[in-house]
Amino acid sequence: MDRKADTLTLGVNAIDREHHALLSLLAKFVAFLKAEVDAEIALAVLREAMAAGNAHMEHEEELMAEAGYPKVEEHKRCHRTARLTYTTLMSDILAFRAHDPALLEQSAQIEKLLLQHIGGPDRDFAEYLKARGVN
Ligand SMILES: [Fe+2]
Ligand SMILES: [Fe+2]
Repeated sequence: MDRKADTLTLGVNAIDREHHALLSLLAKFVAFLKAEVDAEIALAVLREAMAAGNAHMEHEEELMAEAGYPKVEEHKRCHRTARLTYTTLMSDILAFRAHDPALLEQSAQIEKLLLQHIGGPDRDFAEYLKARGVN
């Protein structure tokens, strides 16, 4: 298993599945940018990634409330920051000019932040769930 996959797999199935789907969409978006596909097509994938990301964060927050997770407020703050970052990228894309290297850098940055979130606060939450028998 490579380092990225290892960081990604937290051992709680529902969460792992959503993380994998989210990162696949992000990777697809980056591939579309690199291939210089039509802006509308790239934008559609980004919209899909944002919808999946929002649904995922809501799902995690529901699981936290159900499980009485003590660090829920701190985690929700991380999610709010992530939403702001996505929104910033989205407004840049709306001004899309084909093959903008800044956009690729920004996308790589988002992927990095997402992996850090999964490997950090999400891993903490997954450990909390697993200690209570959820997997
Ligand atoms: Fe999270
Ligand atoms: Fe997550």
